[in-house]
Amino acid sequence: MTKITAAISAVGKYVPEYVLTNKELETYVDTNDEWITSRTGIKERRILKGEGLGTSYMAIKASEDLIQKRNLDPKEIDLVIVATATPDLLVASTAAYVASEIGAVNAFAYDLQAACSSFLYGMSTAASYIESGRYTKVLVIGADKMSSIIDYKDRATCIIFGDGAGAALFEPSLEGLGLQDEYLRSDGVGRDFLRIEAGGSIMPPTQETVANKKHYVYQEGKTVFKYAVSNMADVAEKMLTRNNLTEPDIQWLVAHQANKRIIEATANRVGVSSEKVMMNIQRYGNTTSATLPLLLADYEKELKKGDNLIFAAFGGGFTWGAAYLKWAYNS
Ligand code: UT7
Repeated sequence: MTKITAAISAVGKYVPEYVLTNKELETYVDTNDEWITSRTGIKERRILKGEGLGTSYMAIKASEDLIQKRNLDPKEIDLVIVATATPDLLVASTAAYVASEIGAVNAFAYDLQAACSSFLYGMSTAASYIESGRYTKVLVIGADKMSSIIDYKDRATCIIFGDGAGAALFEPSLEGLGLQDEYLRSDGVGRDFLRIEAGGSIMPPTQETVANKKHYVYQEGKTVFKYAVSNMADVAEKMLTRNNLTEPDIQWLVAHQANKRIIEATANRVGVSSEKVMMNIQRYGNTTSATLPLLLADYEKELKKGDNLIFAAFGGGFTWGAAYLKWAYNS
């Protein structure tokens, strides 16, 4: 019997219209364009404005982009996974709402939270369902409204993050395309260095938690940077060595967009030259769960059937990992 692999058969994206530039950030905190550009590679990011609009708004738009491009009947979708660190509501599943709104009425849906690694883990989940033969169309959406959890008076975080969403459809391939290998890791030692302290079960919201700004992202940047550089490079390298791949075999590095220096360090370790490194951090900043699918959507036209892609991500928790995927279509 032919082995079923899980291929990405379509992608879609949405970023909000509002552009938050480094210049505008200079009016909120003591920072400057030169520092932000040289330390992170970010020039601007998108912010979702508008009362009552949450992560689902962007997830729906990205899904609709995919559905329209692929000419897909949403009734055929079996499962919708929303990878996000910023769900619309704390208890009700964002994915359930997204699935209903896009017309995926025959699907079940749930959220997946692994901070900046959410989409990578979502890919793994989707691929497992497809490879087992249980389902044939799994939509994975990476979406985050980071502006809803950022303190625009904290220069350690507000310069980094942005809002956005990307979507990818996973379907069976009988040609051996799609996900080939993965190596996913986590280590709870990291939770003190990148977190939102209040609002969860340990520290429910009170007037004090609000007054003390405990509902915003706190990050010990230097420490996270150190772990991110070494761990992302390690797992990306592992993908190459255990699949007997060398630089000429790799067409693209698809790395989480947290900091240009982290991406370059990962590329250097695996020896991939800069023109093979997908990069859109300069325009969107760190969109957490959305970085990887936004890269795929932005580079879709350059991707060719059979291209070898190495994914790598690192995020809060800590969570991190890498994957090796063969691209499945020419657009
Ligand atoms: O996606 C999830 C994973 N997250 C990450 O991967 C993020 C990892 N961390 C980073 O990307 C970097 O650590 C940051 C971009 C957050 C910070 O860059 P850094 O090079 O680690 O800066 P730093 O925190 O070590 O600060 C260096 C200097 C300090 O001044 P002194 O003490 O040397 O005088 C800071 O006070 O830069 C100062 N600084 C700033 N200056 C202007 C810190 N933030 C800013 C700022 N503008 N926004």
